[in-house]
Amino acid sequence: MAEIIHLVSPNFRDIFEPNIEIGKFPDGDSHVRIPLIAECEGREVVVFHRLYSKQNTALVTLLFILDSVKEAGAQKITVVAPYLPYSRQDKKKLNGEVASAFAVCNLLARAGCDNLITFDCHFLNKEGPSKFGELQIQNVSMGKDLVGYAKAKIFSGEECEVISPDMGANYLVADHGGKSYTKVREEYKKQKIKYRDIGTMEGEFDVKDKNVLVLDDMISTGSTMISALEKITAAGAKKVCCAATHGLFLYNCVDKINKFTDCVYSTDTIVNAHSKVPIKQKLVDLTDANLKLF
Ligand code: R5P
Repeated sequence: MAEIIHLVSPNFRDIFEPNIEIGKFPDGDSHVRIPLIAECEGREVVVFHRLYSKQNTALVTLLFILDSVKEAGAQKITVVAPYLPYSRQDKKKLNGEVASAFAVCNLLARAGCDNLITFDCHFLNKEGPSKFGELQIQNVSMGKDLVGYAKAKIFSGEECEVISPDMGANYLVADHGGKSYTKVREEYKKQKIKYRDIGTMEGEFDVKDKNVLVLDDMISTGSTMISALEKITAAGAKKVCCAATHGLFLYNCVDKINKFTDCVYSTDTIVNAHSKVPIKQKLVDLTDANLKLF
């Protein structure tokens, strides 16, 4: 069987050696060059490309790569994008609103992506294969790795309660008791899309004098995590830390989080100053298995 071709974007250089060149023209248009393009004909191709930060440019760049690899006659194309932007907009709340999670997935599928491998994707509530819109997705979870880090490095081998701040992330904590708050956001203010405040966060857990890890799929503005940390701190927990697969950490929210815990960390699906749990081994395992996932 012909060897699989791995194409690696420069934004994946912290994990694998890049072999795609990406630059910009003076007007901001993206320029992409794939020196190995001629070798893609009739082969299975795996593209490693991050879609955050600068998600709009990163998405367009990926569409260019897919179009080119498809045109070159690849037999099958798998994309590995550790964080999928727009994954939170999977429902239409307003008349005429685009459900951009579907739009992104459909665009990737139509551009030639046969499989997307991504991590703890917001609109999926389980690990493994799923179809979303027209796109086949393999959702890989970092839940066990994030819990393992807390137990080993933060709680020094002591037991801890693991709680997620909303039901969407419940599968991340399922192997550890599966406790989750139920979060309800308010409506958009004056029908203008910006951000919906957290309305309520329901759930009471017996955490008095216990170690607690609060675990979510992502920390973006931090408002969800801070609401959960407030409740857990008020309930008398002993030592509290928090983590997420994807650390966007917008608006210096770490400073606010640190009022409740000095321990906040993430994986490196998005490389940031708090990335403590690497995804590399999972990716190596997947590629060693020749990505025979479906
Ligand atoms: C939402 O349902 C997700 O699981 C996260 O809880 C949320 O997206 C985090 O966003 P933020 O940090 O802005 O509250």
